[in-house]
Amino acid sequence: MIRPSLLALSLAHALVLGACTGESGIVSDASPPTAHASASAAVLANLAAPLLSVDAQAPAHPPVRVVPLSLAARAGQQIFFDKSLSASKAMSCATCHDPEYAYGPPNDLAVQLGGPKGTSPGLRAVPSIRYKEYTPGYADLLDNPDGFSRPGPGGGYAWDGRADSLHDQAKAPLLSPFEMANANGADVVAKLRTSPSAASFLQAFGDHVFDDTQTAFEDVTMALQAFQLEDSSFHPYSSKYDLHLREKPEGAFTPAEERGFEVFVDPKKGNCTGCHLHAAGTLDGSDGMFTDYSYEAIGAPRNTEIPANRAGRHFDMGICGPVRSDHLPKDASFGAFCGLFKTPTLRNAATRHVFFHNGVVHSLEQAVRFYNTRDTMPELWYPTVGGRPKAAPDPGFPRYGLVTTQYVGGVVQKFDDLPAAYRANIDHQIPLDGRAAQSQPPMTEQEILDLVCFLETLTDDYKPAPPPASGRCVR
Ligand code: HEC
Ligand code: HEC
Repeated sequence: MIRPSLLALSLAHALVLGACTGESGIVSDASPPTAHASASAAVLANLAAPLLSVDAQAPAHPPVRVVPLSLAARAGQQIFFDKSLSASKAMSCATCHDPEYAYGPPNDLAVQLGGPKGTSPGLRAVPSIRYKEYTPGYADLLDNPDGFSRPGPGGGYAWDGRADSLHDQAKAPLLSPFEMANANGADVVAKLRTSPSAASFLQAFGDHVFDDTQTAFEDVTMALQAFQLEDSSFHPYSSKYDLHLREKPEGAFTPAEERGFEVFVDPKKGNCTGCHLHAAGTLDGSDGMFTDYSYEAIGAPRNTEIPANRAGRHFDMGICGPVRSDHLPKDASFGAFCGLFKTPTLRNAATRHVFFHNGVVHSLEQAVRFYNTRDTMPELWYPTVGGRPKAAPDPGFPRYGLVTTQYVGGVVQKFDDLPAAYRANIDHQIPLDGRAAQSQPPMTEQEILDLVCFLETLTDDYKPAPPPASGRCVR
């Protein structure tokens, strides 16, 4: 859990500015060198980003892939889109991780339907799988990439970090009964033999690859990893923010976006960068990942759209299970991990229709408003028990929350998706600093709108255009 001091935050800010202007000793910018950059900076930049091959002549939108995909990555590309590898024959990785939606879900379902008949609901919202190339393996005490926060749980794949690598992670959807629903690795390999992907797989891994089922299954997951690491569509760095970072004129922020950025980094207002680190990572040469890979309990409300949450007393508690099984709370020392989920990147968040691990929130603005009024107006986010619903809410009663009914009396069930025994794990950083109900929220209406404008600059495939004269994010 990260509690950056004011001093440290401004230091991080200084570092990222330094990296932009080339004045810092730390080279963290994965962009291709411009014609004016010194040769040593170019060498260092390339060293810092071994996974990204870049075109030295690339204009505005770096990095551009010039090296063709390896054979393994090409096999992985075929497999990624191959529906014949699922029990239903109707689902591939791309069904849930749609390239048109930044490799996130193409719809607003909190959880997707999969399994043999395509009718089995999952347990969690589908994350975007862009910008995973710097994700470190999971550790209970990971050094924070901001370079100053205390070590804490961090790294790993999935909302609970239970997979340590992209290839390890790929096994889960291939075998999950509510995703691609294969019985085991041998089942996947048997399907692959007769699939459209077989030829490229044989070409990449050799004529004898099918002789050993176990290694063939490992190779399937290695191919998927190679595709995700090598193909630039998984890390295009083509947002307006990236142009801004590189001081390209096309990336100039509007006044609204500029103010939104200030809210994002202001430790008394959004403080978003405290977890969604916008600055350069001190450990790995990354820049602007918008996550520090840390795990926090922010108390997302329970989502009854998820069938598992309606039946019985299922609580998804992130690192401490039950999906993940190596930190179960029956070992008392793991109680401190209950309710903690991975901080996701905010790149392309504006393209999503479901937010947080359980998809309970359905718009970016609503997510920002949750941060602003979770504590000051919890009745907008959590159910009230024992109160009397008003026939019509008062005129001033906000309609942007999850609860649009106003109650007289009753008790708000704050943090209703985490058993009371673990609520001490809830993080206390601004903007979620636990301030009193009905007190002043950290951000004003204007600041919320500006912050959303800034977050929208993180969407890839930005097409520079002459600045509009009017509109939501202009002035
Ligand atoms: C039915 C929908 C579905 C399908 C199909 C699917 N995934 Fe996922 N994917 C998810 C969900 C849901 C999660 C989050 C899982 C969790 O936290 O337990 C996820 C997580 C991931 C992650 C980790 C992302 C992160 O933020 O750490 C990667 C990588 C990934 N999937 C790759 C794949 C690959 C490769 C395939 C095909 C073999 C695939 N997925 C198929 C739904 C799907
Ligand atoms: C204390 C650390 C922390 C701070 C500060 C923080 N976040 Fe988050 N953020 C998280 C974590 C952890 C999650 C995932 C929580 C979950 O799913 O239960 C998250 C999730 C999100 C999501 C959902 C993304 C997705 O793909 O579902 C958005 C949007 C978001 N944060 C925006 C913000 C903004 C904007 C701010 C500043 C106003 C902010 N966050 C401040 C830790 C933080």
